[in-house]
Amino acid sequence: MPTSLVTGGSGFIGSHLTEHLLQQGNTVVVLDDLSTGRAENLTHLADHPKLRIQNASITDPVALAEAAHNVDEIYHLAAAVGVKLVADDPVRTIETNIYPTEQLLRLAVQGKVSRFFLASTSEVYGKNPGESWTEEDDLHLGPTSRPRWAYGCSKAIDEFLALAYHQKYGVKVTVGRFFNVVGPRQVGNYGMVVPRFVEAALKQEPVVVYDDGSQIRCFAHVAEIVECVAALTAHPESGGRVFNIGSDQPVSILELAKRVISRTGSTSSITFLPYNKAYSDDFEDVQRRVPCVDLLNSTIGRKPEKTLDEVLDDIIAWKRQSLGTT
Ligand SMILES: NC(=O)c1ccc[n+]([C@@H]2O[C@H](COP(=O)([O-])OP(=O)(O)OC[C@H]3O[C@@H](n4cnc5c(N)ncnc54)[C@H](O)[C@@H]3O)[C@@H](O)[C@H]2O)c1
Repeated sequence: MPTSLVTGGSGFIGSHLTEHLLQQGNTVVVLDDLSTGRAENLTHLADHPKLRIQNASITDPVALAEAAHNVDEIYHLAAAVGVKLVADDPVRTIETNIYPTEQLLRLAVQGKVSRFFLASTSEVYGKNPGESWTEEDDLHLGPTSRPRWAYGCSKAIDEFLALAYHQKYGVKVTVGRFFNVVGPRQVGNYGMVVPRFVEAALKQEPVVVYDDGSQIRCFAHVAEIVECVAALTAHPESGGRVFNIGSDQPVSILELAKRVISRTGSTSSITFLPYNKAYSDDFEDVQRRVPCVDLLNSTIGRKPEKTLDEVLDDIIAWKRQSLGTT
């Protein structure tokens, strides 16, 4: 069985992916600096004989080389994540999201790594006004004076790097653009909407919707996402290609708030907060973000299918447990 390196493996998606790969029988090396990830995400696996956890930064070239030594495949998920964190510290975003990716691709060439998965994001599409986005669509990023676009732009550069390494050195790189991924272990500290709504509802506090709540999003369960990632990365025809990975069932943020209140049985009210109060005066949001997942589906024969209510019920049960309100 292969040895897999998961950067960002103590994070939300990374910890679920680590669990999935261990279940498949892989040996897993996790490299994470615990900046937004949490050690407790992997506590239940701490004694697993096939898991090695290295707490260090991907910006440390020695730690990166050590983690990548003798691995067969790399899942690169470590990044400065979340619109709020990125808007607050654009320098860190660029340092974390660009240089280490190139370094890791170099290590993949030197180490003859057979598969490389790059976690990218729907943010690369920027403000594309399309009803749904396909992988060949144009990227409509906003001006560089607005730090919000640093995240999508940094991931787009990662994609260029990854595809270039595939073309020049033959590294089998698969790029996955995640849309909104949600589930147990996701925390709301960095502006993630679902954990923020669920926590407020369970505490009977107002659920705060930014702007008027007409923004459209699609939410996929992390368990389905990591299965798609592993299947895609292993697929013989995924090399040098970009895939949308997410749910294609749209919902407005206002409807999401109502659903969270109803599924939790909360007495919370909904309040509205303008973007300039939530973020800053120059903040721009994306009105509609819906993926076309036909390419994913036709390649691996599946796509995320769980309904929003199924996804929310799972998150609510986890959050009740972690808040001790069961
Ligand atoms: N959750 C989503 O909806 C979503 C959507 C689009 C893209 N993504 C991408 O998926 C990946 C995982 O995101 P997530 O939602 O699990 O967030 P997360 O914050 O839980 O995971 C990121 C992990 O990377 C680690 N990390 C950050 N900087 C690091 C560094 N310098 N060195 C080592 N580790 C570092 C963090 O500690 C964390 O564990 C990211 O690349 C993100 O851009 C996520």
